[in-house]
Amino acid sequence: MTQDPKEEAARAERLREALRRHGYLYHVLDRPEISDAEYDALMRELATIEDRYPELRTPDSPTQRVGGPPAAGFGTVRHPVSLLSLDNAFSEDDLRDFDRRVRSWLGEAGGSGAGEEIEFVAELKIDGLTVTARYENGLFVQGATRGDGDTGEDITHSLKTVRTLPLRLPEGAPPALVVRGECFMPVVSFQKLNREREEAGEELFANPRNAAAGSLRQLDPRIAAARNLDSFIYQVLYSEGGEVAGDQRQVESQRQVESQWQALECLSDLGFKVNPERRFCRDIGEVIEYCRSWSEKRASLPYEIDGLVIKVNSIAAQEALGARAKSPRWAIAFKFPAEQATTRVIDIIVQVGRTGAVTPTAILEPVRVAGSTVSRATLHNEDMIRQKDIRIGDTVVIQKAGDVIPEVVRSLTELRAGAERPFEMPVRCPECGSEIVRPEGEAVARCTGPACPAQRREGIIHFVSRGAMNIEGLGPEIIARLLETGKIRDAAGLYHLTYDDIRSLDRMGDKSAQNLIEAVDKTRRNPLGRLIFALGIRHVGERAAGLLARRFGSLHRLAAATFDELTSIPEIGPRIAESLLAYFREEANLDFIDRLERGGVVTGEEAPAGGEPAPAAGESAASAGPLSGKTVVLTGTLASLGRREVEELITGLGGRPSGSVSKKTDYVIVGENPGSKLDKAREILASGVKTNLQILNQDEFFELIGRGTGLGL
Ligand code: IVH
Repeated sequence: MTQDPKEEAARAERLREALRRHGYLYHVLDRPEISDAEYDALMRELATIEDRYPELRTPDSPTQRVGGPPAAGFGTVRHPVSLLSLDNAFSEDDLRDFDRRVRSWLGEAGGSGAGEEIEFVAELKIDGLTVTARYENGLFVQGATRGDGDTGEDITHSLKTVRTLPLRLPEGAPPALVVRGECFMPVVSFQKLNREREEAGEELFANPRNAAAGSLRQLDPRIAAARNLDSFIYQVLYSEGGEVAGDQRQVESQRQVESQWQALECLSDLGFKVNPERRFCRDIGEVIEYCRSWSEKRASLPYEIDGLVIKVNSIAAQEALGARAKSPRWAIAFKFPAEQATTRVIDIIVQVGRTGAVTPTAILEPVRVAGSTVSRATLHNEDMIRQKDIRIGDTVVIQKAGDVIPEVVRSLTELRAGAERPFEMPVRCPECGSEIVRPEGEAVARCTGPACPAQRREGIIHFVSRGAMNIEGLGPEIIARLLETGKIRDAAGLYHLTYDDIRSLDRMGDKSAQNLIEAVDKTRRNPLGRLIFALGIRHVGERAAGLLARRFGSLHRLAAATFDELTSIPEIGPRIAESLLAYFREEANLDFIDRLERGGVVTGEEAPAGGEPAPAAGESAASAGPLSGKTVVLTGTLASLGRREVEELITGLGGRPSGSVSKKTDYVIVGENPGSKLDKAREILASGVKTNLQILNQDEFFELIGRGTGLGL
């Protein structure tokens, strides 16, 4: 790599440009041209140059999305013009009234005659959080919430992490520009976040809207960064030279913006993500037709909408119409009726998740709502049930939040006949009989059984699920049968299954058994990120798992990572780091990983990233040191080094630290107060099986690796 500061500066600029372009292709256009790994490599190179020459670190650099330290508090931002809200229309008649009003106002204003058709733009009404973004000389300088319409909260640090919002605008952008749009959380991200929160015993977000708001209103930008927020921009609030709300003429100096339709196109040209679902309508009839089409289609969107926004297209007409105190006369929100249904609660059962979280679930008389039949709904936790006063036998109103997740809205208590029963959280786990406890101050009750079959089963279901190892054709039912028959006791067991093991299950044919063996085999070389996610470490979601895989390149390097190394990764906060350290401290987990490896699962194929350079092809880290390719187990403690340091040392020398002893182990290092691993090693040596196993004391170990006593290392 070049070291000439001038060349480095030029290289940094080229990297920034490339990253901006690829970020835009990926996040806004959804048309990536390079792989994630290539993108990350460019990002790392830029970060390295900026670390070496901090003066090259520009505020709009793609490295700076999660750059800043936590904000001290929320400042306030005075909006350049009031952020108006909208009047609502709840029916097609309301829309026709709106059209009539617009014509009559325009007639009074001396504009077009009342007989002429008005052209409209219909846009989706995104159910998120209104935000504004201010750009000066093409650079993003400030983000704010709507607040009371005149003054909002400064959320610059959080909004910067929203990858679809450009940090820099292309040449020719107005020197000062403030845009308005909606920041939101896609439905899948919301569901995932709530699942993680449920397992962590944290309070759940009621809907994606609240989740987006809760994420943006955080002082630590890493929280927003980890939550996959997205944006759609739909209005120029202010641009240099034009200071009237709705004056969108100055967006592009070369082109006069005369309509909302053009304004959206200009915003898109400036690099903003503009919702592609919009319709130019020649009259109100077309608007109504478009609204109708969305009340059915809305469930298929990956984000929530609560209606459509209808805007008069002509900006001249918008200006002539003006605004009332709180809302413009040129626009209206068409609100969908909420999709609700009533049904009866037949029972309330509890389900035990992989972390032991016990979730009450309502069993409902099946009912159709928003296009599908609903027969159960999560009630989240005891507090929620008490709060809504839901009893077994009650008639309840249910709705699909965002038309996706069924939830119980309320109980129709006036319909009670007297036989309804309140829900009692069971004291013992329905699956293992262990005590269920609810820690002080937490919303979630948990099964305390260390060997709870439900937790095991759910853990395996997670392990094989699509986002994790993705073992095709291995559903909950087969997993349950494998567990019941003792063929496996956890997910590692899947990689030790033989054809006969599977074939011997009830209702399992030759072909299905063969398919399953092949499906399992295909996942042995899965990318490391999938494996890390599959382990089900608390707080480590898919995104964090991917970041960790890229940074550490192997499960053993990850296991040996220190708190500081972990938290040096943007987006990995103390909570995730603590959780990882706790996971890798557990002998049982190390043993689990060891059994995965012995079952042929690859735990380290990705190139390490970050600080150290990746080993060149054909020269993997494992072939470099005196412990290359050797499996090393430590039992007891060494006088000079902590466990984690020893593991780092082993990894650094090309070895593989392991938590348990088998005949495949190469060295067992015996420190002070050795444990049962020493007995196991002696047993193996005494048994006469073929093995390379050697037992070493501290000194022998340090001699082997050529480091004297190891003191003062
Ligand atoms: S136009 C003066 N367009 O819906 C223009 N609003 O009360 C007013 N919203 O919180 C806004 N999608 O932020 C407009 N395509 C869209 C929108 C939209 C969502 C929000 C808006 C406000 C609420 C309307």
